[in-house]
Amino acid sequence: MAEPSDFAPSSAVVLGIETSCDETAAAVVVRNAAGEGRILSNIVLSQFDRHALYGGVVPEIAARAHAETLDDLVKTALDKAGVTLQDLSAIASTTGPGLIGGLIVGATTAKALALATRRPFLAINHLEAHALTVGLTDNIRPPYLMLLVSGGHTQLLLVEDVGRYRRLATTIDDALGEAFDKTAKLLGLPMPGGPAVEKAARDGDGSRFDLPRPMKGREDPHFSFAGLKTAVRHAAMHAAPLSGRDVADLCASFQAAVCDSVSDRVRRAMQAAVDLLPDKNHRPFVVAGGVAANKAIRAALTDVAAEYDFSFHAPPLELCGDNAVMIAWAGAEHLARGHVDPLDAPARPRWPLDGAAPKAIGAGIKA
Ligand code: KG4
Ligand code: ZN
Repeated sequence: MAEPSDFAPSSAVVLGIETSCDETAAAVVVRNAAGEGRILSNIVLSQFDRHALYGGVVPEIAARAHAETLDDLVKTALDKAGVTLQDLSAIASTTGPGLIGGLIVGATTAKALALATRRPFLAINHLEAHALTVGLTDNIRPPYLMLLVSGGHTQLLLVEDVGRYRRLATTIDDALGEAFDKTAKLLGLPMPGGPAVEKAARDGDGSRFDLPRPMKGREDPHFSFAGLKTAVRHAAMHAAPLSGRDVADLCASFQAAVCDSVSDRVRRAMQAAVDLLPDKNHRPFVVAGGVAANKAIRAALTDVAAEYDFSFHAPPLELCGDNAVMIAWAGAEHLARGHVDPLDAPARPRWPLDGAAPKAIGAGIKA
C-alpha cells in the first residue's frame, strides 16, 4: 500500500457503509490518482448477540439494529479517519445483494449524507466489493480469476475489469459458508460456524471419516455442498454420542473434503482460464469472501495456484468477512472511472455480478 505522502490533491476520500446482513460497518478509504489505496478507518459492529438466540440472522432484528447503530458508527469512522463530511469526495453504500431491510437502512443513510453534502452517491454491489478488495490490499488489477466464497455465494468468476464480471461456475445447492455454518450447528458448535469448525479441526484427524468430495472430476467447474453436509450428519449420527475428539475429527474430515473438492473445481477453472488470461506474466488467482479467511483452504489453493502458474492472492484475514472498507474502495474505483449513481438507485435483494450467466444445471434458486 502507498505511503501517506503519495496522495496527491486528486485523491478521492470515500465513506463506505455496509448493512447487507448482520454486520453494521462504516469506513473511510483514500485512493490516489495512481489507483493506490489506504484505509483511514474501519469500524465493524457485529450483531451476533442479537441473533444468537434464534440460531440464524433474523432480518427484521438486523434492520432495526442497523438503524439504531449506523449514525454513531459513521461518526466514529469519520472521527477515526480524521476527516469531516466536507472532506469526503463521495459516499458509497451496499445496495445489494442482501437483506432488503438492512440494505434500505444503509442506502437511505448514504443518500441523505450525499444530498446534504452535495457529494456523489455510489450504489455498490456487495459481491463486487469482495471481488475488488485485493486492489486495495495487494494492488492487484483485473483481469484475474477469482473464487468468491461467502455465506450466500460460491462462484468462480473472471474479473475482466471493474464492473465487468464473467461467471465461470457457481454452486448448484448450498454456498460454502452455509455448509460450514450448518456443519457447526449440527455438531453443536457456536455461530458463526466457519471459524468454529476451523478451530475444532485444528486438533482433529482429517482422515478418520470417509466423506465425499462433491463434483470432483466433473468436467464443468461448478460446486455442490449439500451432499457433503448430509454425509457429515450421517457420520455424526453413527458416532453419537459425540466426544470432543469425535467433533474435532468430524470437523477436520469435513474441512479436508472441502479443500479437496474446492481444489479440484479451481483446477478445472484454471485450465479454462489459461486461455482467458493470455498474459503469462499476469495470471492472478484471488480468493475473497468470508470463507477466504480459512487457513486450510488458503493453503490448499496456494498449492493449486502454484501448480498452474497463477499467483495467489487473498485479502488479509480481517478484510475477508463483511466490512465497509471494501464498499468504500469499490466506490472509489467506480468514482475514478466517472461512475456515480442517482439518489433513487434501488436496494436489490438479488444482484448477480454476471447477469447474463445461465443457471447451472441442477441448480436451485440460489445460483
Ligand atoms: O462474506 P461474509 O462475511 O458474509 C457474506 O457475505 O455472506 O461470509 C460469511 C461466511 C459465513 O458462512 C462464515 O461461517 C464463513 O463466511 N466464514 C468461514 C470462516 N470465517 C468466516 N468459513 C470457514 N472458515 C473460516 N475461518
Ligand atoms: Zn460478504
